[in-house]
Amino acid sequence: MDFKQHITDKLAELTGLEKSVIENSVETPPDEKLGDLAFPCFPLARVMRKAPPLIAKEIAEKFGQDEALDRVEAVGGYLNFFFNRALFAQTAIDAIAEADDKWGSSDKGGGKTVLVEYSSPNIAKPFHIGHLFSTAIGNSLARIYKHLGYSVQSLNHLGDWGTQFGKLISAYKRWGDKDVIDKDPINELLKIYVKFHEEAEKHPELEDEARDYFKKLEDGDEETTALWKHFRDISLAEFNRVYDMLGISFDSYNGEAFYSDKMDEVVEILSEKGLLTESDGAQVVDLSDLNIPPCIILKSDGATIYATRDIAAALYRYRTYDFYKNIYVVGIPQSLHFKQIFEVMKRAGWEWSEGCEFVGFGLVKFPGKAMSTRHGDVVFLEDVLNEAVEKTRAIVEQNANVKDDKDAVAKKIGIGAVLYTFLKNSREKDIIFSWDAMLDFEGESGPYCQYGYARGRSILRRASDIDYSNADMSKAMTDEEYALIKQLYAFGNAVEGAAEKNEPFYVNRYVTNLVKSFNKFYSVCPILRDDVDLETKKARLAIVDATTRVIKTALYLLGIDTVESM
Ligand code: ARG
Repeated sequence: MDFKQHITDKLAELTGLEKSVIENSVETPPDEKLGDLAFPCFPLARVMRKAPPLIAKEIAEKFGQDEALDRVEAVGGYLNFFFNRALFAQTAIDAIAEADDKWGSSDKGGGKTVLVEYSSPNIAKPFHIGHLFSTAIGNSLARIYKHLGYSVQSLNHLGDWGTQFGKLISAYKRWGDKDVIDKDPINELLKIYVKFHEEAEKHPELEDEARDYFKKLEDGDEETTALWKHFRDISLAEFNRVYDMLGISFDSYNGEAFYSDKMDEVVEILSEKGLLTESDGAQVVDLSDLNIPPCIILKSDGATIYATRDIAAALYRYRTYDFYKNIYVVGIPQSLHFKQIFEVMKRAGWEWSEGCEFVGFGLVKFPGKAMSTRHGDVVFLEDVLNEAVEKTRAIVEQNANVKDDKDAVAKKIGIGAVLYTFLKNSREKDIIFSWDAMLDFEGESGPYCQYGYARGRSILRRASDIDYSNADMSKAMTDEEYALIKQLYAFGNAVEGAAEKNEPFYVNRYVTNLVKSFNKFYSVCPILRDDVDLETKKARLAIVDATTRVIKTALYLLGIDTVESM
């Protein structure tokens, strides 16, 4: 029984309005006292030439006896529908048990491909905390879109091309020691890169040397290409360690270099369409009518840049995937860049560029620490993850409840705590990193949600001799039980909202509130206590079972693992 559908159908019958119109106005009232669903009669006033309260009253009377509803009330101009609780609870719990990890899913995205580009770290540079922010959001969005039936491709647009590679190769040839670098690639490459900048301040001719090396690389020179490839391989191996820790993989690692031979076409097209103008020797697309700086396509020395590679990448993606959406999860400081390239693509007449979306996010602030790769003064992401796991292990060690391998549990909780923090608020908000908040088992945190799950699982383990598969849900009619079941039922709304706004925090907030309701239910409704009769036990166990399934799925959509005991 789909309650909303049922009410919509009947309203259509009684009012003669289009179903789609009714569906759009049926809403969830802000207060439970106003029922489970409400329908505002104001739009009917003109057609029916009556005051809305009167219309509401008449429709309420016509609704008469309805098996699905306890009652229909007319209040002001609204019709408030109160579900038959037992029927609703039964419907919801049965549906969740059957759908299992597909609960909240849909086939809305059938036949459509969504590309989610995220993480995209730079070769030979540390994978910094901003990249982790991107990784957390992107991975979650990829899972959310999949849940809604889209075919999803996860893309890692590696920063593996550009003049900085000329500098790195020059530095390597001067001061690089292969053995030292292979042992700790990113740190050591970063060291010689920093040294290059220091030396180049004293000896500007180093810059020319670097330019020459990059030119060689662009021309496919064997030795420089081999070095570049080596840097890329060892960097990727390090990045993969982080991705493994997070349980993430990508469908494509085509980075900027991949598009280096696909840019001539872009320059040709833009030039043919008359979009290029000269500015100080560079070829640019003028965007002054939008009050933004021009998009540089070719530098004065003929070298292509970041923007050109991105335009080539978008064109390639369109041809390869015929995407419905092409999402870029990148920090807000790059919003202008994306505004520029999207505008250039639009002016090139590429209608598909409408599907390109910039999904920006805020800064991560560590009280007392600055972040910049130039000076090597950075917060290393792996250190953060390891520290999270270490700190969690200290807590887990003292916890006698943990049945499984303590290392594995600490890892899931520690990493879950970090991911949760990134997905807690609207992505554009800056994050102030705080270990205390992150690992607060009682506050709004990853461990808090994981604990809700583990607690539910522990109850189910203790009740393993009770078969609750045919529980009679009319035995679970308290307000706490009903509120929890309603929340479980509404999971799909959170998933859809998250996709619509590209905001995983909708799911995060959903699961946090769900665990809160679960804890409330648990404190008010005894489950396995001796004085609880068997039928009530069964109904409550069925609620616990459904709740654990939904928590697990919701956390999965955030990239967070669950643990069976903690
Ligand atoms: N590698 C870039 C950085 O670390 C992010 C790449 C963003 N994606 C893109 N298509 N430009 O800042």
